Amino acid sequence: MCGIVGYIGHRDAYPVILKGLQRLEYRGYDSAGIALYDGSEIKLSKTKGKVADLEAKVSEQINPVGSLGIGHTRWATHGVPNDVNSHPHFSNSGDLVIIHNGIIENYATLKEELIKRGYKFSSDTDTEVLVNLIEDIQKNSDLKLGKAVQVALNQVVGAYAIAVFDIKKPNEIVVARLGSPLAIGVGENEFFIASDASPFIEYTNNAVYLEDEEMAVIRLHKPLNVRNIKDDRIVSPYVQELKINLEQIEKGGYDHFMLKEIFEQPNAIKDTYRGRLLIDEGIIKMAGVEDNMGKFLNANRIIIIACGTSWHAGLVAEYIIEDLVRIPVEVEYASEFRYRNPVINENDVVIAISQSGETADTLAAIKLAKEKGAFVFGVCNVVGSSISRETHAGAYTHAGPEIGVASTKAFTTQITVLTLIALRLAKAKGTMSNTDFRRHLVELETIPEKVAATLKSDALAKEIAAIYKDAKNFLYLGRGFNFPVALEGALKLKEISYIHAEGYPAAEMKHGPIALIDENMPIAVIATKYGHYEKVVSNIQEIKSRKGKIIAVVTKGDTQVRDIADHVIEVPETLELLSPLLTTIPLQLLSYHIAVMLDRNVDQPRNLAKSVTVE
Ligand code: F6R
Repeated sequence: MCGIVGYIGHRDAYPVILKGLQRLEYRGYDSAGIALYDGSEIKLSKTKGKVADLEAKVSEQINPVGSLGIGHTRWATHGVPNDVNSHPHFSNSGDLVIIHNGIIENYATLKEELIKRGYKFSSDTDTEVLVNLIEDIQKNSDLKLGKAVQVALNQVVGAYAIAVFDIKKPNEIVVARLGSPLAIGVGENEFFIASDASPFIEYTNNAVYLEDEEMAVIRLHKPLNVRNIKDDRIVSPYVQELKINLEQIEKGGYDHFMLKEIFEQPNAIKDTYRGRLLIDEGIIKMAGVEDNMGKFLNANRIIIIACGTSWHAGLVAEYIIEDLVRIPVEVEYASEFRYRNPVINENDVVIAISQSGETADTLAAIKLAKEKGAFVFGVCNVVGSSISRETHAGAYTHAGPEIGVASTKAFTTQITVLTLIALRLAKAKGTMSNTDFRRHLVELETIPEKVAATLKSDALAKEIAAIYKDAKNFLYLGRGFNFPVALEGALKLKEISYIHAEGYPAAEMKHGPIALIDENMPIAVIATKYGHYEKVVSNIQEIKSRKGKIIAVVTKGDTQVRDIADHVIEVPETLELLSPLLTTIPLQLLSYHIAVMLDRNVDQPRNLAKSVTVE
């Protein structure tokens, strides 16, 4: 839930680390800090606030020179966001300095022991406990830093990605991971350390992703020394060639990453089905599904586990898979599933959905499902992420980096992958005719251009946003495949504008929420022309008779809803099960513009972080 960066090599470490922290700010942004070794001493600067605040402070406080350093951007877990709790943290002697992403669960016990041995703590963090534990181990043995870190980590319960160095041996950095991501960029006589590859992509395409329970001693002019923390096994590092480029992770002329990512959706969806949806041959090809077809087809049921927006994509998939494949599907919040003793066995297939591939609850739910013998298939965006490695097989969404904290293109590309899976399974199971299968392929292929057409409603969404930006509450209603879109629309609005919003199945309105409706309540209704259309029109009438304000998302050419709604945004016609890929777009734009007009920090909303690596 924090971002970590480090550098050792021939360059000035400060600009590398600072830019890296800016790119990782999506992971946490309540405080930031940096420690640099300048050849004689460690220069430390840290502050509550954003990386921009750190930059201002560095220029006042230190001369940021040195070619070795570590930096951190924080999302507070232990201890409020303030200067003292910010990372990096020193050990009591001032020799060791550490940055940490994760949580040391047994820190209180360890801290008590260390206090008994005379250690003093200035912060409330679990991280300061860890660095002093390492120091204590070194003090009572002749162990080198790497070994002392290993011994310390074997006493720790929790999750971590750490980088630590010792002023007495300033030519090495020791890193380790368990449950939090850590990548090492391997350059010419230089190494980069980061929570993901974005901080070093302009310097090197070669990266080693540490696995859980692995640590590395990084020394200049020496090969990487990687070993397993628990059993001390030497691991030969796998150097992966990265395919992302700098342009993909910068704003490209948009005011915010979120807007850029909303507008990237036509291409992102195309990238998701490229090489999988083969129109000429009339087939869908997905290696992870082909290789495990027996498991899918013989499944008693499919259980989808995810959190947040990914959970909403799972709900859409439930409707699609049950409709096309006729296998029962259950969709669970990963955080509930993992703690409720679920009935699950080797005849179940679990699909875990996660943009980041690092969400702690989803990861833990996957481990539980595996222990119970289920086959687990992952749908992730981040290549090499923990979830993509923990699952038996999977399919990437290939959406490209999603930096804005509010998920947009992740949602539509997850639905695209899950639709491809459903279609492939339906074909194999024979639950769809050839004609119908072909019709779906052809229509799916047109979705990117229909998303592009829908994006033209941006100016209209902005006008509507200006009218309702001061509303205190919003309702979002949808039915069938578009019920999860209502949930997603409400989530987008609340997370970036801080306006209270709720999503409901349209028909549920009369069982409670209708009491909320008066002339001050804007209600976004997905009223596209499918099976439930007339029913939704009735729901709209009911709202109008109570003076609610209707913002309707309708099928192009609709006149019936236009006559009664206050505002309509059109989306092109498509198959009902593909419609969420279009209807979600105006709702993303609406929440984006409201948040901008309210002067919210759209890409980094308060209290949130892009990947939730704490439970
Ligand atoms: C909402 C949002 C979160 C994430 C959730 C799961 O816009 O971003 O609700 O969807 O934290 O994250 P992943 O998909 O990375 O597992």
